Amino acid sequence: MESPVISDIKAAIRTIPDYPKPGIMFRDITTLLGDTRAFRRTVDELVNPYAGSKVDKIAGIEARGFIVGGAMAHQLSAGFVPIRKKGKLPHQVVSVAYALEYGSDEIEIHADALVAGERVVLVDDLIATGGTATAAVELLRKLGADVVACCFIVDLPELGGAERLRGLGVEVRSLVA
Ligand code: PRP
Ligand code: ADE
Repeated sequence: MESPVISDIKAAIRTIPDYPKPGIMFRDITTLLGDTRAFRRTVDELVNPYAGSKVDKIAGIEARGFIVGGAMAHQLSAGFVPIRKKGKLPHQVVSVAYALEYGSDEIEIHADALVAGERVVLVDDLIATGGTATAAVELLRKLGADVVACCFIVDLPELGGAERLRGLGVEVRSLVA
């Protein structure tokens, strides 16, 4: 049985069939972000496991990971590191290519975004195939980060992304499936 808080978060997420391509059930968190109570509860649920433990940085994946990641960093008094699509970061970068549920892309991090050994929590709104998050963990590890966990609002378990990430030896948390 899921808790009333998780039911509330789940109910605030809208599903758009056939976006951006036929056959994709797009889980749209903009409705959750616009819902005062559900947004606060989401951020609280994401940071609760780290209350009282040392987290140096929250790394957020463009674009929706920036919204929850910024709020988490504030609440944990941690720094925020953006992981962006290719060509968006102005300074020296490290890059990794990855496959999406619908297409392929490349993500980048500033080469000086972290000090080796820093404890980092990675966040995004959703994990599907896990291609994006796997590439993000690879980027963080290239910089010597200690990736404490990867967290998501939504997991699409039938696509196997969370299992793929766990195979890298990373703790994975998600609020709703
Ligand atoms: C979505 C989502 C994740 C990724 C998950 O982002 O926000 O970043 O897909 O898919 P995966 O687990 O199969 O890699 P999208 O690529 O749509 O980019 P956007 O957030 O910039 O719209
Ligand atoms: N990213 C990849 N698959 C997605 C989905 N089904 N809904 C929202 N974002 C996604």
